[in-house]
Amino acid sequence: FRTLNDLDPKGKRVLLRADLNLPVKDGKITDRTRIERLAPTLRELLDKGARLVVCSHFDRPKGKRVPEMSLKPMADALSATLNRPVAFVDDCVGPVAEEAAARLKDGEALLLENTRFHAGEEENDPALAQGLARLADVYVNDAFSAAHRAHASTEGVARLLPAYAGRLMQAELEALDAALGNPSRPVVAIVGGAKVSTKLDLLGNLSKKVDVLVIGGAMANTFIAAQGHGVGKSLQEADMHETARRILEDARSGNCEILLPIDVVVAAAFAPHVPTREVGAESIPADMMALDVGPDTVAAIEARLRQASTLVWNGPLGAFETPPFDAATVAVAQAVAGLTQSAGLKSIAGGGDTVSALKHAGVAERMTYVSAAGGAFLEWMEGKTLPGVAALETA
Ligand code: 3PG
Repeated sequence: FRTLNDLDPKGKRVLLRADLNLPVKDGKITDRTRIERLAPTLRELLDKGARLVVCSHFDRPKGKRVPEMSLKPMADALSATLNRPVAFVDDCVGPVAEEAAARLKDGEALLLENTRFHAGEEENDPALAQGLARLADVYVNDAFSAAHRAHASTEGVARLLPAYAGRLMQAELEALDAALGNPSRPVVAIVGGAKVSTKLDLLGNLSKKVDVLVIGGAMANTFIAAQGHGVGKSLQEADMHETARRILEDARSGNCEILLPIDVVVAAAFAPHVPTREVGAESIPADMMALDVGPDTVAAIEARLRQASTLVWNGPLGAFETPPFDAATVAVAQAVAGLTQSAGLKSIAGGGDTVSALKHAGVAERMTYVSAAGGAFLEWMEGKTLPGVAALETA
């Protein structure tokens, strides 16, 4: 794919697909990570004299104009981050958008209203893609986190204008390639989270690509139960036992070591600071539930990490939002950060909960790369083709 290295944007109108789908509570942005990660692309284009037309979706208005889902507040947020004015246009296509885009001067930027106010966005309607293409001379996609959607602003328009990857898109793709595309080995993957059923494709793909697959979180309970052990009151999926056994067998025959919990932290109830016990993973008492992996498991994970060259991490090892069940996730996160800084471990992490967990452990800045994407990161780890990326590759 082409990057900003291949584009001289001076005097050109650049349609920039951003992902401004930021977490907002009571009208306030609660996490600016995505804006901060996007800012270098915007600055570079503006400094080089581009006439910037920024578009994005926000939330899921389903083709209707929902006032609470307007992108207008994001224009101020962008303007504050970039330290220059960013005008707002209350439609992403049509005469107002076309006039505003035509009036831009070199180095000026505007933000268009939520693309999902038009039903054609999610339908990838060629008419909407053409409407967007009329606003610009070239297209830059910097929304890796929306690249798993084949929408008019992520896929359709990329086929109508000369298309380039922005710096964030480029960084995400390079990091993912280093993680699974062309990694230096051994590769360890840590997968956590609640359910096996939502991570089937992920586990299947990873077990073919990595050398060690660590399974933690509540989904590990399903694997423990599938091997015939009682898991007490722990969260688990009884209908996934057969699948779990198949995943273990496939991994074994494919030379991927699967590391399941050796010991777990159990409690009688799931609440903050309840009394806990550490027990072997095969001896979970009937009236208790497993809520984190135990210290022997943490030591076993750390031993694998010391041998590893690359780590890819998705999903916490325990119920990290509720202490003390954050202990294993925090300990492993700190070990990863240490090895990344001192031993050259390439550590790549992504997915919503994973990023919160790393922030909670205070080490998000000490990883090699933390993806700004949620669903797109997962689909990529599942080995799927992302339509937004595919469109850039064939452009
Ligand atoms: C995200 O937040 O993961 C992306 O912006 C995609 O949003 P969506 O799941 O509503 O398509």
